[in-house]
Amino acid sequence: MAKQFDVVVIGGGPGGYIAAIRAAQLGFNTACIDEWKNAKGGPALGGTCTNIGCIPSKALLQSSENFDHAGHHFSDHGIQLSNLSIDVAKMLSRKDAVVKQNNDGIQYLFKKNKVTFFHGRGSFAKAAEGSYEIKVAGAAEETITGKHVIVATGSNPRALPGAPFDEDLVLSNDGALRIPSVPKRLGLIGSGVIGLEMGSVWRRLGSEVTVLEALPTFLGAVDEQIAKEAQKAFTKQGLKIELGVKVGEVKKDGAGLAVAYTAANGEARTLQVDRLIVSIGRVPNTIGLDAEAVGLKLDERGAIVVDDDCKTNLPNVWAIGDVVRGPMLAHKAEEEGVAVAERIAGQHGHVNFNTIPWVIYTSPEIAWVGQTEQQLKAAGRAYKAGTFPFMANGRARALGDTTGMVKFIADAKTDEILGVHIVGPLASELISEAVVAMEFKASAEDIARICHAHPSLSEATKEAALAVDKRTLNF
Ligand code: FAD
Ligand code: NAI
Repeated sequence: MAKQFDVVVIGGGPGGYIAAIRAAQLGFNTACIDEWKNAKGGPALGGTCTNIGCIPSKALLQSSENFDHAGHHFSDHGIQLSNLSIDVAKMLSRKDAVVKQNNDGIQYLFKKNKVTFFHGRGSFAKAAEGSYEIKVAGAAEETITGKHVIVATGSNPRALPGAPFDEDLVLSNDGALRIPSVPKRLGLIGSGVIGLEMGSVWRRLGSEVTVLEALPTFLGAVDEQIAKEAQKAFTKQGLKIELGVKVGEVKKDGAGLAVAYTAANGEARTLQVDRLIVSIGRVPNTIGLDAEAVGLKLDERGAIVVDDDCKTNLPNVWAIGDVVRGPMLAHKAEEEGVAVAERIAGQHGHVNFNTIPWVIYTSPEIAWVGQTEQQLKAAGRAYKAGTFPFMANGRARALGDTTGMVKFIADAKTDEILGVHIVGPLASELISEAVVAMEFKASAEDIARICHAHPSLSEATKEAALAVDKRTLNF
């Protein structure tokens, strides 16, 4: 007799594992199926985010930033170092240890919350009376049933036509996180989030990094003023970014690769690199799910079609995270997971797409929430904007990191905050205040009137809010 569950979650990434925990908290008998394998073939819960995404990339960003500080900034503090070197193998094994801590942490959370975990591939077998039969292909094969099914199967990297990933010379985010030694010349296709984060890691360690981007504008989704400031900083650091290019053939050339491309001015050029990271977006993943066995509807991009509540076309089948519409972010997947579990319980699960923050963990970091100035202009909405530079912030000066600014955009009439955009130190942490403020529909004046600790980077947030009313105190 098949094991029966109230809720079966397929996929144990941030969307799936959080959905499973919330469903179990709400009293449902819950199972989660995940197929990710660690180097020894054992389970590695946490999906793309934990294994080859958010967590390992931030571990390498931290290691490489430490190296960069030691090499370029410690001397400003009177700290002298000689014979500085990087042990790439050690750096990578530290990253692997951080990943494992997170994998193990999720297994522990499953035990704590009594989520039954199946290690293997889950696929739809058929719709049975009032439930769905799900095949689990792991060490052994078995079938389980779920009254509700939450699909959280994530996404995969998109390859460049004609240049499949070999994870040796042509790297996806997976290979980019385990390059065994610092490449002399590193190429990146796509100056999106992965391109900039991974480009930063290897540039800081000594690679000559060139990024080829198809679009004529740098970080088109980011507020223009912020994107310009970031581009200036990255260029100063030595990241070469070519915009408006058309990438052609990628050929093996000696031990490396030759990337043919047409530059923005129409000139045919070739970029010689030792390794190439292709980061041109990701595609929803439904491989092996047998969506067709039950008639689960996908769109033309391969994403599972869902409504605003993450309901699919099938009764009691839900889908969340990267495999559905919306930004491909771990915290968006988590929010949807919680909301779906609560909807299954008859509660009013809620995800506010207007207040999902974005962070790019480069140095300076870039973070934003809400609308950009260019979006508001296009929508014809009247707004006021104010900025405050970190250059005028005492804590930033003490840190020795004064690049960038905080920018507030508020409604011209009501003063409601419509967007906050930050480029600068710890933007990833500073943005939370803006998210909370927007969630509570605060005005710029609300933030301007709140006491912020001194000296702190958050004073720049307060000052940017004051700048909306043209009355900064420290600039
Ligand atoms: P995933 O994390 O992809 O998890 C899906 C899981 O389902 C996987 O474990 C997969 O093995 C499993 N699976 C798939 N099909 C089946 C099946 N049929 N049966 C069983 N298991 C299956 N986002 C952020 O918010 N912040 C960041 O800093 C960040 N950094 C990133 C860095 C990189 C390099 C990359 C690539 C992504 C990054 N992201 C980041 C994006 C983030 O990783 C994703 O948005 C997030 O992982 C999506 O979560 P998910 O649960 O939808 O899918
Ligand atoms: P992306 O969508 O961020 O950027 C892809 C870039 O590649 C775009 O600028 C696009 O114009 C460009 N491009 C597309 N085709 C091209 C081509 N043929 N030639 C040259 N350029 C081309 O995608 P990326 O960087 O692959 O990341 C995927 C997703 O993963 C992100 O959108 C984000 O959702 C998530 N992510 C989030 C992170 C974070 O939150 N800090 C970190 C890394 C990834």
